[in-house]
Amino acid sequence: MLDTTGQYRNKELNDLVIGIAGGTGAQGKGLGYRLAKAGFTVILGSRDSTKADSAAQEVGYGVSGTDNATCAAQADVVILALPWESHLESVEALKIHLTNKIVIDCVNPLGFDKSGAFALHVPEGSACAQAQGILTDSHVVSAFNHVSAVLLSDTSLDEVEIDIMVAGDDKAATDLVQSLIDMIKGMRGVYAGKMRNCGQIEALTANLISMNRRYKTHAGIRITGIN
Ligand SMILES: NC(=O)c1ccc[n+]([C@@H]2O[C@H](COP(=O)([O-])OP(=O)(O)OC[C@H]3O[C@@H](n4cnc5c(N)ncnc54)[C@H](OP(=O)(O)O)[C@@H]3O)[C@@H](O)[C@H]2O)c1
Repeated sequence: MLDTTGQYRNKELNDLVIGIAGGTGAQGKGLGYRLAKAGFTVILGSRDSTKADSAAQEVGYGVSGTDNATCAAQADVVILALPWESHLESVEALKIHLTNKIVIDCVNPLGFDKSGAFALHVPEGSACAQAQGILTDSHVVSAFNHVSAVLLSDTSLDEVEIDIMVAGDDKAATDLVQSLIDMIKGMRGVYAGKMRNCGQIEALTANLISMNRRYKTHAGIRITGIN
């Protein structure tokens, strides 16, 4: 994990390569744009490398695209930006490429019906805990669950003002993810608890979606009392 000089995988923070599995979706492209703008090397992953390549060209900022496995293998930190429905099988397939790496899970297990969004029951407690259960040799961290893909991708916005709740069991990993988030203009990474508390972070997204629908906005979170 982090060495005594605070480096991760023998690299300084801004030299890290960030891979985004499912990077051709709205959330993956949006996160890719903000991370590349912050100075990181970003690789978008897809089931189809041609699609990843087009998504990367769309994002710009030197972002590249490839298949999910190559993306995970080449990255230092891997973000899972996949649909909940394919989360388990995708994480299992990527496992061999994620050993000893920090994995950021932003997946929200949600259902939708005529009353709007609602949190789904996840036997492991959360998508993040499900990933950690599979990725026994990785450090899984929950982050970016509440930030809107629309705001992330809006190139007219110089910054996206939001606090990003960061949760997980490994302090070095959550610290690094907070530092990474702090490099994105407008964002602040806030430690929000251990893995067992990720379920309500994911579920809270259903409340934000309800706010979005009522107030026709892209609601986010700001935490008070922390300077
Ligand atoms: N959208 C938001 O505002 C937002 C905000 C916060 C968190 N999130 C979370 O971020 C995740 C991604 O959101 P999104 O809106 O970007 O989702 P999405 O567009 O539905 O999916 C992202 C990518 O996943 C891949 N994918 C789709 N079906 C798949 C399958 N069966 N197996 C493997 N890969 C598959 C697709 O890429 P390829 O076809 O290129 O493989 C797709 O472009 C979700 O879990 C969501 O809860 C989203």
